Parts: sequence; structure tokens; C-alpha cells
Amino acid sequence: MKKSVRQVAAASRNTTSEQKGSFGIMTYTIVRRSFGLTWLAVLVALALPTIQAQTSPAGSSPTFAKDVAPILQNNCQQCHRPNQSTPMSLLTYQEVRPYARAIRTKILSREMPPWGVDPTVGTQAFENKMALTDAEITTITDWVEAGAPFGEAADLPAPREFAEDHVWSLPGEPDLVVASTPHLVKGGSGQTWAEVFVDLPITEERWVKAYQSKPGKDDVEIVHHMMATVILPDGEDDGFGFHYTPGKPATVYQDDAGFLLRPGSQIRFDLHFDAKEHDIVAKPQLGLILYPKGYEPKHQVDRLNFASLSELDIPAGEVTRHDGYALMRENFRVMTFMSHFHELGKRQCLELIYPDTGETEMLNCADFDFYWQTVFRYEKDAQPLIPKGTILHTINYHDNSLANRLNRDPKNWTGFGQRSTDEMAIAMFEGVKLTDEEFQQAREERLRQLEAQD
Ligand code: HEC
Repeated sequence: MKKSVRQVAAASRNTTSEQKGSFGIMTYTIVRRSFGLTWLAVLVALALPTIQAQTSPAGSSPTFAKDVAPILQNNCQQCHRPNQSTPMSLLTYQEVRPYARAIRTKILSREMPPWGVDPTVGTQAFENKMALTDAEITTITDWVEAGAPFGEAADLPAPREFAEDHVWSLPGEPDLVVASTPHLVKGGSGQTWAEVFVDLPITEERWVKAYQSKPGKDDVEIVHHMMATVILPDGEDDGFGFHYTPGKPATVYQDDAGFLLRPGSQIRFDLHFDAKEHDIVAKPQLGLILYPKGYEPKHQVDRLNFASLSELDIPAGEVTRHDGYALMRENFRVMTFMSHFHELGKRQCLELIYPDTGETEMLNCADFDFYWQTVFRYEKDAQPLIPKGTILHTINYHDNSLANRLNRDPKNWTGFGQRSTDEMAIAMFEGVKLTDEEFQQAREERLRQLEAQD
């Protein structure tokens, strides 16, 4: 009954397609190509100079007060402020100054803010986007290179106000709050993971309109990220969760769409903690706004796993690429995507091969970070519309070299499996199926929007 996310992700690759009706994976073949370390080095070398080459207008070095503080307010402080799960606060000049060089490094490598979507591929219109523009990166790096000057106090923006962390950002009070059983995180225990199972307190089927998962009042400062996943009464788990990272707003399904909850299900909280010095009891929770009893939204939110890469061959010390192919049997409107790998997961690209013409389109590529497990939520007008008959081509990279800080043993060959030391490569979509007519309408609406923008 109780399965870990890894076991479940592995198991569901066989069952999801059948249980989700006509959706599924027809064939998923694998081609392995491996790249030496030089390949990554080339990518990094190509990426950095384009950013560094840009400079601000001559004679006007950016200052903290005028140029840098607003960027930090909008992109960093939701996590980097007191009593959060971050190593330091970035509110004031005094707090930021010692980290100037570290900030430069982390934003150039795009490790901060922790986002991952490749800015050069596909749409960048995501509701939960956390990314600096090239211009913002240039401003900060120029500032660091100019010696990180403070500037004029009069230029400082008013401090950003933050809602109290335990207050929901849902559109209204939640109809249902699922509270995790309290979990003790020992002081000084470093990075730890926990799984907590809680029965879902409903007695009849209910449809979710909006959700938010988040830490409790006392544990904001140790919850690095979390995922609340629904385990169906038969023990099946689609591996997809209600995701939390600090500062992430509630998710509201639009357009009469909802996610079905069944009685007898459980919620599994997957928690990643970064302990403080003292003991803290964590009480994370999931808040749900439900459609009224008996009401059925027109569109059921579906969660699909494209997950049959059961033959992975990842030699010691190498960066590998594995390709997978899956047939989309129905028209689908994609609301979110996420990748699921283990510690060696590096990057995933999603390409569509359209029916009839065979034309291809790269949807998005995203670097993967096991420490964040980000769910990428498209803005409504950017949600990919995939016609049935399309083949989804996934390109999956694993990094089994020393360069991967999470690699436990770069001397070991690694393959597919369910242990955390084994690997996986799964692409997950959340979205709604569309009839041919609905699909046509959605496509026409999208074309009109695109024309209006031109
Ligand atoms: C979603 C939360 C979040 C956001 C937004 C975020 N950070 Fe971080 N940051 C973290 C966490 C958590 C860590 C600790 C390392 C980790 O878990 O990756 C970290 C680590 C860092 C570090 C390394 C600190 C050290 O100990 O060396 C730097 C530098 C940094 N962040 C800068 C930034 C900057 C600059 C921004 C905005 C442009 C930013 N971060 C936005 C959560 C965040």
C-alpha cells in the first residue's frame, strides 16, 4: 500500500496507460548515445560569454540601492529572508555584500533562482516562473565587477512586504485542509527526506478547483520543498503532486476544470528538509478549494506519465542521452510538465512530432534538480495544444560524472531501477483531454491571440 515515490513512479509506467483509458504509451524505444565530459564543458563555455559580453552603458555602474535591490526584491527575497529554509537573507546591503561573488556565480549558471527551463527553447510563459532576464543578470554581474557599490540611500526601494507564511494564498478559505502527521526534524540533521501518509477525509467524490501545499507555521524555515501526492484507494499513484517551493502561490484550475478526489484515497507528503540547529516539529498541510457537492466540472484534469524508459545504460563518469517516444492518442491541452529522475537526472527536452506532416516542434527543455522537483505551470495562453496522433519525443540526460554534486559514486555504472541509487527518466503532463471540436476551437482562439499580438 505504502509505496515510495520511486517505486510508484516505476510501477505506474505499466499501469497508467491502461487505467487512464485510451491514453497511453504505444511504444517507447531507446537509443543511447553517450557524451564525454567535454560535451558539457562546451555547453557551459558557449553559454557564459553571451551573457558576460553584454555590458551596461559606459560610465554608469549599477548600484545596489538603485539597480540591484529591486531585482533581489522581485526574484530572491521570497526565499532569502529571515526564518526561511535558505542559508542567508538578502534583504539589506549588509546582508547581500558578503555574497556578491557567490550571487554572480549562481545567477550566471542559472542555478539561482532555482528554475531550470532553458530560456532559449520554447515558450517562457509560465505562471510560476522564477528567472532573471539577461538584462537583470548583466546588471548584477556589472555591479559585482564594479566592486558592489551601495549607491545613494535615497534610491532604495521601499521594503517588499510579505504575507505571513502560514496564510493561504488560495482564492478564499480552503474547504478542506489535509494536515500531515507531525514529523520531528532533529536539530543539526542536515538534509533529510520524509514520507508521511494521511487518509483523505472525504466520504464522497469531490472535485478540486484550487490547491496549495505548504509548511505549517513553525516549519517554514526547514521545509526546502514538498510534494503532496494523491494515492488512489487501490494503492496506485500517478507520481504527480501538489508541489510547494517557498513563495509559490496557490494553483487555481481555470475554465471549469477540476481534479477528482476519491474517498478511500490517501495523501502522501514527500518532504525535503534542511534542518536548523534546534529541533523543529514539521506540520505541513494541503489546502483545497472544492467545487460544490454534486457539481462536475466540464474538464477533468488528467495526469499522464510517459515513463517507459526501463532500459537505461549510464556508464561511470559519463553524461548520457536516452530518447523515448510515446503516442498521444487524444487531443490534449497541457497545463504543466515536470520531469522525474533520481540524483543523476540532468536535463529533459520534450519534442512533438506532429501527425501527417511529421513536422517537429521543441516544446521546452528544462534542467533537472533533484533538490527542487519543480512543476512547470504554463500560463493559460501558452498551454501547448497537442493534436492526437502526435508523437511525444523525450530526450533525457543523466550525469554520472564527478561534476554532478549529487552523484554518490561516479565510479559505478547505473541503470534503471527503483532504488534511489538507480535511475529513471519520466516525463509527466498535467492537463485536459479535448474533443476534436474543442481542440479546433482552442486552436482557432490561439491563432487569433497570436495575430492580435503581431
Ligand atoms: C525558491 C527559493 C529561492 C529563490 C527564489 C532564490 N533562492 Fe537562492 N537559494 C535557495 C536555497 C534553498 C539555497 C540553498 C542551496 C539549495 O538548496 O540549492 C539557495 C542558495 C543560494 C546561494 C548560495 C549560498 C551559499 O551558501 O553559497 C546564492 C548565492 C543564492 N541562493 C542567491 C540567490 C539569488 C541572487 C536569488 C535571486 C536572483 C535567489 N538565490 C533566489 C532558495 C532560493
